[in-house]
Amino acid sequence: MSGELSRNELFQMVVRVSLVSLATYFSVKWMINQIDPTCKAKKKAKERAEGLLRRLGFKESKLANLNEYEMVIAAHLVVPEDITVSWRDIAGLDNVVQELKESVVLPVKHRGMFQNSNLYQAPKGVLLHGPPGCGKTLIAKATAKEAGMRFINLDVAMLTDKWYGESQKLAGAVFTLAVKLQPCIIFIDEIDSFLRSRNTNDHEATAMMKTQFMMLWDGLSTDNSTVIVMGATNRPSDLDKAILRRMPAQFHVGLPNEEQRLKILKLILENEKVSPNVNFIQLAKITNTFSGSDLRELCRNASVYRIRTFLREHGDELDEKAMNAQANPLTEGASNATLPEITMEDLMMSLQKMKLSKMHTGVLGLEMRSDLD
Ligand SMILES: Nc1ncnc2c1ncn2[C@@H]1O[C@H](COP(=O)(O)OP(=O)(O)OP(=O)(O)O)[C@@H](O)[C@H]1O
Ligand SMILES: [Mg+2]
Repeated sequence: MSGELSRNELFQMVVRVSLVSLATYFSVKWMINQIDPTCKAKKKAKERAEGLLRRLGFKESKLANLNEYEMVIAAHLVVPEDITVSWRDIAGLDNVVQELKESVVLPVKHRGMFQNSNLYQAPKGVLLHGPPGCGKTLIAKATAKEAGMRFINLDVAMLTDKWYGESQKLAGAVFTLAVKLQPCIIFIDEIDSFLRSRNTNDHEATAMMKTQFMMLWDGLSTDNSTVIVMGATNRPSDLDKAILRRMPAQFHVGLPNEEQRLKILKLILENEKVSPNVNFIQLAKITNTFSGSDLRELCRNASVYRIRTFLREHGDELDEKAMNAQANPLTEGASNATLPEITMEDLMMSLQKMKLSKMHTGVLGLEMRSDLD
């Protein structure tokens, strides 16, 4: 009898112990999740990654094969339809674009045709370098849209994790994910911030991450995967020598010359109302040392000036129209028709202002050596 009771008691005890252990397990798990500040971000990244992968046509069955780190990286995938930049939006860089198409895009697109050639293959690393604002990021975005490859826009800050060892796992996941998604481009903008020359002052974890990155990159060249690491920088000399070696295809995107400036100006003002008195050729001539981004700013400022002058003259009239439009929304379109043209005077005024500010910030004097940047 007592034996039966003790058996009962024993059973109850086992049940109780297992219940308590279960409760402890889940509460500790919940607590750890609460302590980890990245928990919510990770969850969001996972949801985003799943959405992106589905949009890219990644099979549902393969989705389950990706580990937690690969999911974090997958949140940085780029869907070509979301990119607004195409080859058409790049002016004056036809040579670079053509070369990029021939040496990177074509071998990937027609890889079946060149299967037997060991030499005609896409390079494992591509480096775009040159002074700021000349179109490096623009080219990378257009490549992502037009190349027909999966594109990971790697945010380097994401790789650095406060937990020891996590960074290396994330760096490893970049490559394992890229191989699973291939053909794939891993793009690292401002690559000098991440893979600059290694020195003895590097933090141990950073140094390890760099060397691991290089090792995995080398792994790519031994198997026949189509993964390309693409970097952009305006300080190629700061890059580690070993990294430069891994990027054999290098393109210099320099300051535009007169002919290129003419093309860029025409492209920027293509869809704007421009007065017939605007002399593009003269404008291209006098904007020596201006980058593509400067030219854009020049036109933007000029566009603001024309509105400012116009408002000074017709401000009251416009206010009245706006009031009427509010009262009667159907007449709203009328205000667009009055948008004034950008004149040569607006552009010249903007140019003077930009030259002045460049002089104050000391950029104009340094421009002579900007090609070295
Ligand atoms: N060749 C070009 N054709 C048309 N627009 C250009 C060109 N070059 C630059 N731009 C304009 O300048 C802007 C900045 O260019 P982008 O971001 O590509 O510069 P970057 O070379 O990456 O500079 P940074 O080294 O500072 O990152 C672009 O968004 C675009 O509007
Ligand atoms: Mg850039």
